[in-house]
Amino acid sequence: MKKAICVTIFFLALVVFSFPGITPAEEKSSDSKLAAIPISPVEDLMREHGVLRRILLIYDQELKDIENHKTPQYEVLFRSATMIREFIEGYHEKLEEDHIFPVFEKAGKLTDLTKTLRQQHVAGRELTQSILRLSKDQRPGGQEDPKALAGLLRAFIRMYRPHAAREDTVLFPALRGLISEKEYEAMGDQFEDKEHELFGEAGFEGKVKEVSELEKELNLYELSQFTPPQ
Ligand SMILES: [Fe+2]
Ligand SMILES: [Fe+2]
Repeated sequence: MKKAICVTIFFLALVVFSFPGITPAEEKSSDSKLAAIPISPVEDLMREHGVLRRILLIYDQELKDIENHKTPQYEVLFRSATMIREFIEGYHEKLEEDHIFPVFEKAGKLTDLTKTLRQQHVAGRELTQSILRLSKDQRPGGQEDPKALAGLLRAFIRMYRPHAAREDTVLFPALRGLISEKEYEAMGDQFEDKEHELFGEAGFEGKVKEVSELEKELNLYELSQFTPPQ
């Protein structure tokens, strides 16, 4: 019995010393391997919704300011709406319209949903156009009635929260069942190429940085402020 225990300990020691922990160099190489794994199209679209939600938070804050009779930060609003126009409407929604919705439309699946989503993209662009117009070059005490701006922000937030949530929970999960693995992978590559073509090397990460800067200007960046008091 004693001999058996000794043998077990010997073999355990052998195993431990034969497989030392991962060295920093190996860790680094596994990190870079991870970075080389292409991002899937659905993960790509969902993280872009994360940027959209962060801008909705900015819109929320500015809406509250207007409702509380405070002067909104027009310049921050203008830059936020510009991000919506370039990154969400000009890129993210274009990907949905050119690559995602047609898959469902061709297959005759969820077509009522894609119809509504398309209509909402059109409505969103009109709202953004007006938000850009009303937030441009505004100074405290400007001529424009901030109530009109508040109405646009309210309508935009109200539409985009359920819009993105429906895409995340219904449309995107159904995509994989309609295309082959190869097509899915190719779609991911196309999305990545388009992202870098439009937004350079920084791509998505650059946009996250940009929205973080906007949040900092409104004191919305510190995440812990949203935790309820204990
Ligand atoms: Fe959409
Ligand atoms: Fe979307």
